[in-house]
Amino acid sequence: MRKQVIAFAATLLLPMSLMASGGGAHLEPANIDVHDHKSLQNGAKYFVNYCMGCHGVKASRYNRLATDMGLPVVPAKTGKSGKEADMIADANAKLVTENLIFTTDEDGKPSSLGSLMLSSIPEKDAARWFGAPPPDLSVVSRLRGSDWIYNYLKGFYLDSERPTGVNNTVFPNVGMPHVLWELQGWQAHDEHGLKLVSAGKMSPEEYDVVVRDITNFLTYVGEPAQLVRKKYGVFAMILLVVFIGIAYLLKKEFWKDIH
Ligand code: HEC
Repeated sequence: MRKQVIAFAATLLLPMSLMASGGGAHLEPANIDVHDHKSLQNGAKYFVNYCMGCHGVKASRYNRLATDMGLPVVPAKTGKSGKEADMIADANAKLVTENLIFTTDEDGKPSSLGSLMLSSIPEKDAARWFGAPPPDLSVVSRLRGSDWIYNYLKGFYLDSERPTGVNNTVFPNVGMPHVLWELQGWQAHDEHGLKLVSAGKMSPEEYDVVVRDITNFLTYVGEPAQLVRKKYGVFAMILLVVFIGIAYLLKKEFWKDIH
């Protein structure tokens, strides 16, 4: 019995510790700050330009994001009053609409400030093109951790055996192409680690900043998205209580003739 308990605990703990450690790979710390508005704005800009073609963050709305990254689009949240508040809110709304909103809603109309941040790719097609559907990234920072995302975005390297031409140090045989190649350039991987073999538009230091800001953005997104997760949590607890009730009734039923 004791052995079984230990084996059971191990099966629970092993995947958890693997996830926390990123599958055993050494992870460079992301060093992000979710209260850094400039970093969030930069991360959001890169995310909508380079990622939202395939990934949504559908637990987020543009107007909430704008407010949280220091660009409130409603006068009441600007911290000012009267005409000045209206002007700031209008200017922010224009800035956000022009720079962050390129997608359409489910019904095909252009997204507005109140829209959810959905990806522009139909899920069925995406799964067919990449072998795996690009997942919604609302809670990816919770699942994988910020350090993992940071290293993932820095970890693409050339691999001619893969259909996308690339592999990844923290996500082996990933279905995602290296979408930031233009900025980073191409890396090769050998027993010494990663090496830049063809330069991109950015220096490695500049690329690190972009990747850190995208990671910061996804980490911020994962925090409001907790609300959604908590809803599922409550649902899971209710289910558990119901099953305990059923188990109890079953036990009574099984034992009633024995006593
Ligand atoms: C061309 C489509 C495409 C684009 C653009 C794209 N991705 Fe992906 N991404 C994918 C696919 C497909 C997967 C799933 C890979 C798999 O499961 O093998 C994925 C997986 C991921 C994952 C891992 C999710 C998980 O936990 O399994 C992260 C994180 C991610 N993408 C981040 C990004 C970021 C950040 C960007 C923008 C810089 C981006 N992606 C742009 C297609 C894309």
